[in-house]
Amino acid sequence: MRDLTPDRKTLDPIEIASRDEIETLQLKRLKWSLKHAYDHVPFYRESLDAAGVHPGDLLTLSDLAKFPFTTKADLRANYPFGMFAVPREKVVRLHASSGTTGKPTVVGYTAKDIGTWADCVARSMRAAGTRAGDVVHVAYGYGLFTGGLGAHYGAEKLGCTVVPVSGGVTPRQVQLIEDFGATTIMVTPSYMLAILDEYRAQGRDPRESPLEVGIFGAEPWTNAMRAEIEGAFDMHAVDIYGLSEVIGPGVANECVETKDGLHIWEDHFYPEIVDPETGQPVAEGERGELVFTSLTKEAMPVIRYRTRDLTRLLPGTARSMRRMEKVTGRSDDMIALRGVNVFPTQIEEQVLKIATFAPNFQIELGREGRMDAMTVHVEAAEGHSDASERLAASVQLQSAVRDAAGVKVAVQVSDPGGLPRSQGKAIRIVDNRPKD
Ligand code: DLL
Repeated sequence: MRDLTPDRKTLDPIEIASRDEIETLQLKRLKWSLKHAYDHVPFYRESLDAAGVHPGDLLTLSDLAKFPFTTKADLRANYPFGMFAVPREKVVRLHASSGTTGKPTVVGYTAKDIGTWADCVARSMRAAGTRAGDVVHVAYGYGLFTGGLGAHYGAEKLGCTVVPVSGGVTPRQVQLIEDFGATTIMVTPSYMLAILDEYRAQGRDPRESPLEVGIFGAEPWTNAMRAEIEGAFDMHAVDIYGLSEVIGPGVANECVETKDGLHIWEDHFYPEIVDPETGQPVAEGERGELVFTSLTKEAMPVIRYRTRDLTRLLPGTARSMRRMEKVTGRSDDMIALRGVNVFPTQIEEQVLKIATFAPNFQIELGREGRMDAMTVHVEAAEGHSDASERLAASVQLQSAVRDAAGVKVAVQVSDPGGLPRSQGKAIRIVDNRPKD
């Protein structure tokens, strides 16, 4: 892998400014954002009034903890355009969550917001090692999902040649990467595995592909998965984080030179970590739920938006802006099994340690008598067809999961290709428990 550390001269000065400079800018922008939301969104006026706080009460950054949270339920209750702080005519773009559970959540952008978003994605891509002139293959879905268009505008802003493929039709993905000479790919890590399978199915050596950088996000993935993908493709695998409600992809990104967690673009998004149960801010460096307040967004400012994502904040390294540790999971993805909390990422880490298995997995929840039971479905890797080897590997996985996560699971091994492939965000949990 080539050293792709960007030249410091190409960074935005604020990325490497002093903490004082960053915090001064944040305070100024935070005051603006609170007032903008309060003055133009009835929901925020009511919620702040009910909590007995006013934008003028914020004198320091830590005063933000006095302000009420905003949740996905609040966005749904104000469906479709009730959270907008500008007249609808000023909104040049809408995106929405898939809405598998009830109404979708709608987000809107002014022309300036679209520019801010593109800047954040361009900065993320530069951190990942992508440069102007690179060919960027975007396999995040285009449409209401923010992944495809978010990546697209950022890549154009950075000065790249963008290939807007979207998800699906995996053989064509491989062909276009090869024919157009893509050096960067932007895709979910789980779909990258499907692309890897396709390389092998076509008898191509993935290590010979033109790809040098993969910017992977939209779902949790582990350092074990990073090692898997980096090894298979001889490329850098870098994490990008974001969520539609806050702007889309490009809220935070890892730096290719350190790969030690994601630098949050703190000049646009103010992060806090709170205890998911009590909502109280946790001590510095402790794990909890990530909460964001937008600092510059016009169309849809968010105040203390509860992401449900679990992580912790760490000091800056390659940039002065703080880092968030790789997200371990969402509080909604936490499986409570016989009193023990388990995240799919904990299972992923163990599956990837065993050479007999391919890196794909799915967790099935069921019921045994009155107790919940968990089955980990895995796939044998190509060339591992021996039944006794598979059995031994299953036993190994069971004991590894028991040691690492403290739960007893069953393991089911299918033949290579036996599990469903994701073309976007992977479905890690299939809940077959009877509804009672
Ligand atoms: O997934 C935005 C995005 C697109 C991010 C492409 C990165 C790349 P939503 O569909 O609103 O937006 O889903 C946001 O996805 O709250 C996390 O739970 C999860 N997520 C996003 N990025 C990561 C990541 C996009 N790098 C939700 N690691 C978030 C772990 C992630 N989880």
